Formats: sequence, C-alpha cells, structure tokens
Amino acid sequence: MRRLAWDHNAHHQRLLLRALPRSCGRVLEVGCGAGALAVRLAARADHVDAVDSSAAMVAAARARAPSNVRVLHDDVLALELAPGSYDAVVSLTALHHLPLEPALRHLAAALRPGGVLAVVALPAKDLPRELPVELAAAAAARLVGLALAAGRVLGWHGRRSGDPASAGMPVRDAELTVREVRRRAAEVLPGVRVRRLLFWRYSLVWHRPGAAG
Ligand SMILES: C[S@@+](CC[C@H](N)C(=O)[O-])C[C@H]1O[C@@H](n2cnc3c(N)ncnc32)[C@H](O)[C@@H]1O
Repeated sequence: MRRLAWDHNAHHQRLLLRALPRSCGRVLEVGCGAGALAVRLAARADHVDAVDSSAAMVAAARARAPSNVRVLHDDVLALELAPGSYDAVVSLTALHHLPLEPALRHLAAALRPGGVLAVVALPAKDLPRELPVELAAAAAARLVGLALAAGRVLGWHGRRSGDPASAGMPVRDAELTVREVRRRAAEVLPGVRVRRLLFWRYSLVWHRPGAAG
C-alpha cells in the first residue's frame, strides 16, 4: 500500500495559489517546510517571506529558493510582522502546529486592507459525523495513488509523488475538528470561511476588510 501513498500537501498547493490576489506584491508563507510552495509563490509575487521554525527545513528551503524569496528561521509567533505589510499570508499544513486564536490574530494584523489569509491545515477526526467523507477520502486517495503509480510507470513524476527534500519534516497531530476551527476562527475573524476538504485537510480563507483585493 505504501506504493499508493502520495503527497497530500503538494496536492493542496494549487488551492492556495488560486486564493492569491491578482496583483501580489508581498506574500508571507508560514511553516514553509522544504520550500516547494515558496518556489511557486515566488512566480506569482514580487517578494515572498517564508518562515519555518525547523533548521533542517530552512536549509532545504534556502537551497531551492529563488532570489525573491527570503527564508526566515523563526517561530512565526515570535516574528515582528509590520502591520498591514502583506498582500497575502498563506500556510500549508502548519496552522495546526500553532495555538489557533493567537496565530490568526498575529497573521491577520500583518495583512493590508483587502489582503487575504489563505490556509490549508490538518483537522482532528470528527467521528461519526464525518464518517462518510472519511470513507470517500480513503477510496478516492487509493484511486489517485493508482493513477500516480501508473504515471510513474510511464515515466511521469508529478508533484504529488512526493518531495524528497521534505524528509524529516516536523509533523503534528491536529487537536481541533473542522467544526471547532470554524467556530473559534469566526470569533477572531468575522466572515472567515472554513471548509472541510476531501483529503484530510480544511481550508480557511479570510479577506481583511478594506480596499479591493
Ligand atoms: C507539516 S509541515 C508542512 C511544511 C510545508 N508547508 C509543506 O506543506 O510541505 C509543518 C511545518 O510548520 C513548521 N512550523 C511548526 N510550528 C511553527 C512555528 N511556530 N513557526 C514557524 N514554522 C512552524 C514546521 O517546522 C514544519 O516545517
């Protein structure tokens, strides 16, 4: 079955890229890991600050980052972020490493009016309520794994096949279900949208009120 495993984080990069404003000057990526998303963000933005608290991940990200990406080795909550200084703050599978409300307040304050906070993170399982979606995810993940395995036989290696630079990436189990994230996030960021995604993730999107994005 390991041969059918694939990279769920890489799969969700596109969703975050789609959430970016059309004109994107400065982007902050939180928990950049080995930098795969930062490289793609760099093609869409003038400047990317990518932060991670793991020295190994920062080294891997720096090794591949183009010149408009600054990789910072720090705890994002300890970083002084100038208020209103980013057009977008994005994060892929890292928000559940942080205390939710303080993290949302810290990141939201760094957005310019009209800017977007776009997050994909890991939820805790919510059973039995989410049993149907868990079963659908397991079946669909097998199908995707089979398609990727067939592609590899034909010599095609897509992003979802995995990123060797991510070996040893810090991971953490989630404590909050999607319902809990939705309720708690709405108290901090009125108007936030939190959606369960099929492949064991949720998305959280919030636009800072103000100028058009
Ligand atoms: C599961 S990994 C995801 C990495 C990457 N975004 C990806 O999708 O491959 C979570 C990352 O968040 C980083 N992280 C955890 N807590 C952090 C914090 N307080 N500040 C900055 N980065 C943090 C970890 O070091 C790790 O690289």
